[in-house]
Amino acid sequence: METPRFKTLDDVDAAGKRVLVRADLNVPMQDGQVSDATRLRAVATTLSELSQKGARVAVISHFGRPKGVHVPGMSLVPVVSALATAADVGDIAFADDCVGGVAATAIEALQNGQVVVLENLRFHPGEETNDGDFAAALGALADLYVNDAFSCAHRAHASTEGITHHLPTYAGRAMEAELKALAGALDTPEKPVGALVGGAKVSTKLDVLLNLVKRVDHLLVGGAMANTFLFAQGVNVGRSLHEPDLAATAREVIAAAEAAGCTLHLPSDFIVAADLAVGVETQEVAADAIPPEMMALDVGDQTIEAYSSAVETCRTLVWNGPLGAFEIDPFDAGTRAVSVVAAARTEEGLLNSVAGGGDTVAALAKAGTIDYFSYISTAGGAFLEWLEGRDLPGVVALGVKG
Ligand code: 3PG
Repeated sequence: METPRFKTLDDVDAAGKRVLVRADLNVPMQDGQVSDATRLRAVATTLSELSQKGARVAVISHFGRPKGVHVPGMSLVPVVSALATAADVGDIAFADDCVGGVAATAIEALQNGQVVVLENLRFHPGEETNDGDFAAALGALADLYVNDAFSCAHRAHASTEGITHHLPTYAGRAMEAELKALAGALDTPEKPVGALVGGAKVSTKLDVLLNLVKRVDHLLVGGAMANTFLFAQGVNVGRSLHEPDLAATAREVIAAAEAAGCTLHLPSDFIVAADLAVGVETQEVAADAIPPEMMALDVGDQTIEAYSSAVETCRTLVWNGPLGAFEIDPFDAGTRAVSVVAAARTEEGLLNSVAGGGDTVAALAKAGTIDYFSYISTAGGAFLEWLEGRDLPGVVALGVKG
């Protein structure tokens, strides 16, 4: 993805203006409460800055997938107080609809510096179909539009794309930081570049792998998808999770890596067990000696050493996916050990490390290394599509027009 030239809050004279901010308030909930406020903290910088500059701020977002109808359980109401806590902008108001008279009246009632959250965009079918009238109705509410939701940028929806045809468009601070970090990792990286890709299935990351082999010097493969690569090379992987149907595809990736001059690293040993369960008996075996009744559940010491050495040669590292079944101890050891090396190199200023994706964030948080990475993306689908090298409609739409 080529990052377009875009305007930021540095270019905004927001005082007294009505500003529509696209946030991603699609946060995890438990018992009616926000259980992880990371995304709320991400948009807080933009909201505080606009508030301090005297803007009248209306926050728009989707929540869940109500599919164009009003689903009371998917209202944004429970998110409002958590956003106020995260953003330090005083009390935040709420409007029962995101377009029309209800929304316009709520925005008109704001004093300079105040913030209102408008109800779930996806209660209207026009949001996901990127309907022109719905985008125009959103545009009619404000003077300026700020997109601070990178995690929604893979969606060509009215609130991420259509609206940019109606209002002067700016990137928010979180969006700006994300685009800078991602551009630094793959568009204009310091070389050598490594990518560590783990996770269960080659099938879900095939486009990621095919894009990365063209762009990185080292591709380190982990997780169950490594089993498919080994199977494709004739290795007996026992009862390990693998995708036999994708053997030819895995061989294509190997050939593409060779053609591109990318060194593809596969595990040379594994921690195996008969079950994926806490306290189960484990063995460390060579990759080509997995007992028939056993499953590979994490990489072994030799692989940890080899992957760590490869990371040590890199100046830039992109990380997506765990190396083993990290949720269950002790199968988190490989991910932890290699991430410790990446974290230490980053701390020393020798590595630009960018990680992203749901499982990755959970794995690095469990490893205790997450805070040492240069940049952590909390985007799921958008981060993967970026790794696939695709143009993200919400990012393209930020581009300075004309
Ligand atoms: C996410 O949680 O990844 C974003 O909020 C996008 O949600 P969506 O997959 O429902 O579009």
